[in-house]
Amino acid sequence: MKKTILLLLSLALSFQALADEGMWLPNLIARRIDDMGAKGCRLSAEDIYSINQASLKDAVVLFGSGCTGELVSPKGLLFTNHHCGYSFIQRHSSVEHDYLKDGFWAMSPAEELPNPGLTVSFLERMQDVTGVILYGWNPSMGEEARDSVAKANSARLQKEVADPENGISASVEALYYANQYYLFVYRVYRDVRLVGAPPSSIGKFGGDTDNWMWPRHTGDFSIFRIYASPDGKPADYSPSNVPYRPKKYFSICRDGVKEGDFTFVYGCPGSTREYVHSEEVRYIGEVSDPQKIALRTLRLGIQKKYMSQSQEVRIQYSAKNASVSNAWKKWQGESKGIKRLRTVQAKREYERRFNEWAAGGPYEGLTERLEDIYKRREPYYLAYEYFNETVRSLELPSLASHVYGALKLGRPVDAMARNFFKDYYRPIDQESFVALLKAFGQNMPEDFQPAYYKDKLRSYGTVEAWAEDIYSRSLFCNADAVASLGAEDVALVEADPAFEVYNAFQKWMNSDIMPVLRAAEKELKAANRLYMKAQMEFEPERDFYPDANLTLRVAYGKVAGYKPADAVYYAPVSTLTGIMEKDNPDIFDYNIPQSLRDIYAAGGCEDQPVCFLATNHTTGGNSGSPVLNADGLLVGINFDRVWEGTMSDLVYDPVYCRNISLDVRYLLFIIEQIGHAGWLFDEMSFS
Ligand code: ARG
Ligand code: GLU
Repeated sequence: MKKTILLLLSLALSFQALADEGMWLPNLIARRIDDMGAKGCRLSAEDIYSINQASLKDAVVLFGSGCTGELVSPKGLLFTNHHCGYSFIQRHSSVEHDYLKDGFWAMSPAEELPNPGLTVSFLERMQDVTGVILYGWNPSMGEEARDSVAKANSARLQKEVADPENGISASVEALYYANQYYLFVYRVYRDVRLVGAPPSSIGKFGGDTDNWMWPRHTGDFSIFRIYASPDGKPADYSPSNVPYRPKKYFSICRDGVKEGDFTFVYGCPGSTREYVHSEEVRYIGEVSDPQKIALRTLRLGIQKKYMSQSQEVRIQYSAKNASVSNAWKKWQGESKGIKRLRTVQAKREYERRFNEWAAGGPYEGLTERLEDIYKRREPYYLAYEYFNETVRSLELPSLASHVYGALKLGRPVDAMARNFFKDYYRPIDQESFVALLKAFGQNMPEDFQPAYYKDKLRSYGTVEAWAEDIYSRSLFCNADAVASLGAEDVALVEADPAFEVYNAFQKWMNSDIMPVLRAAEKELKAANRLYMKAQMEFEPERDFYPDANLTLRVAYGKVAGYKPADAVYYAPVSTLTGIMEKDNPDIFDYNIPQSLRDIYAAGGCEDQPVCFLATNHTTGGNSGSPVLNADGLLVGINFDRVWEGTMSDLVYDPVYCRNISLDVRYLLFIIEQIGHAGWLFDEMSFS
C-alpha cells in the first residue's frame, strides 16, 4: 500500500514536472503551442517564431555575450537588466558624474552615450544542419573522426554563411550532446548607446543581501538604443548613424499580472545539464557545491570583516564581493534542492529502468560505463575546481601570473598594475591566502597535493609564516615596482614568491591533473552523446528540450507564489510599500534615494508593483529577457531566480522553482518619477 502511494506520488510529481519545465527551441514551438494554449496563451507558433514574417523573435537580442535584451520602440530602444549594463554604466562614471550612484538619463538622443565593444545580436534564423555537419562521416569511422568531420564541416558552413560586410555571423552549435547540430545566423549591431539607468540604490536595491531571494524589490533595468548606418546595416559607432528600425518591437502592457496568469520568457539561457547521469548530480550536490561553498564562505567572511571597517575597502571590494557571493548563494540552493528532491536516488531509479530496457541491445552497459568514467574523473575534477577556488582566486599570485604573461609577449603592464591596485587591499588577500591554503591541505587527499605545497609547509612550518614571507617580500606588493616592470625583468618575476606559488600549482595541474582530466572528458563526451540518444529512444513519447547553450529559447509557465519553508507562503507580487519597509539609511543595500522617499510620502503609490514571481524555467543568461503575457505583450524583465530553486539547472521542481522579474510598470514609474525622462514614452507603444 505504502509502495503504491509512493509510486503514485512520484508519478504525480514527474507529471507535474512536465508542467512548467523546459527551455524550448523557438523554431519548433509548434510542438508546444497546444500546451501553451491550454495554459492560456493566445498566440500562434508563427507569432512567436517565423522566418517568413516579422515575429516576436525579431524583438529579442543577445545583449553583449551573456545577457538578453528586448526591443521596445520603432527607434531601436532596448531594455535589459541594470546588472547587464553595469560595466558600461561604470565605464562612463567618474567622480564628477557618478552614473552608477546617481543614475543616468539622456534627455535627448544627442545625449545617449556610445559603448565601444558592446554588441547586440539578432537571430535571423536557426536550422537543423546535422546532415551537412556529419557529411562524410559514418559510424564505422568512430567518435574521434565524427568530431573532426563535424569541426571541419562547421567551419566551412560558418564561413559560407557569414557576411561580415553586413554584420552577419554564423555559428554551428551542438544540441543534445552533439546528436544534432544547428546553424544559428545572427545580425550583430555594434553601435549601442546608453539611454538610461536608475541609481544603483534602485537598480541594485537589496544588493547581495537580497540576491537570489524573495521578497525582492530590485529595479534591475537599464535602457539602451541600437544605432545603424543610414541604410539600416550594422556599423561601427558614428555620429551619422541613425536609430535602428527593428522588424518587430514589444508593446508594453500596463495591466500587470496576477497569480495564475500565463507568462513566457523569450531569451538566451546559458547552460543546463538536465540529462546527466546520477554520478554527476551526486558529485555536484554532495561534493563540489559543498566544497566550493565552504571555500567561498572563508573568503566572504574575510572580505566582510575589512569592508565593514572601511568605506574605502567596501567600495574597492564591492564588485569582487558580489561575484564571489553570487555563485556561493546559488550553489547553496542547488545542493539543498538536489538533496530535498532526492535527485540522485531518482536518477539511479531511472537508470535501473533504463538498464532493464537496454539489456541485450546496443546501449547495454552504457550507464555503468558513465558511472565508471565519472568515478575515475572525480578526484581530478575536484583538484581542478579546488585549484580554481584557491590559488587561482588569490589576487597577488594571479596578478603575478598575468604580468608574467604580458612581459613574455613584450606588452606593457603599467595599466594592468594601476587597475589592480586601485581595488586591492593586501590584508584581505593575505588572510585569504592563509585560509584557502590551509583548507587545501585539510581537504585535498595527500596524493592530490603538489610536492611543492608539502615542501613549503615543511620549510615554513605554518601557512601563516609562508604567507607572511610572500606578502612582505614579493615585488608585487609594490604598485610602482609592478608598473615599472619591462620585458628585461622576466627573470626577476620568475624568482618572485607570489609568482612562484601560482606557477608551481599551475605546473602541477598541467602535469598531474589535466592530462587525466582531458582524457576523461573525451570519454564522457562520447558516452554522454550516446546516453542522450539512448534516453530519447527509451522514452519516445517524451518531448526532450535541449540543454541550454546561450541560444534563443522559450520557457512558459504562470505567475505563482511558493512555500519556502513550513508554514510560510510567499505571495508572487511585491510593491513599493515593501521597499519602504526595507528602507534604512544605515544599511548600504537598503538606502534608497531621498526622492523615492518623498514620492512615497506624498501618497498614492503604496501598491505600485515592483517585482513578480513565475514558474518559467530560466537560468543565467536569461537576465534581461522579456517576460510576456498570453498576448505577447511585455509585462516584465527577468533578472533572477529564487535560491531555493536553483537546482533547476539539473532538475526542475514546480514546487520551488521560480524566476524573478521586474514588473515593467515599476520601470515606467522610475523613468517618469525618478528619471524625469518621460520623453521616452513617446516612442513606446502601450496596450
Ligand atoms: N543572481 C542574479 C544573476 O545571476 C543577479 C546577479 C547580480 N546581482 C548581485 N546582487 N550580485 O545572476
Ligand atoms: N541573474 C542571472 C543572469 O545574469 C539570472 C539568474 C539565474 O536564473 O541564474 O542571467
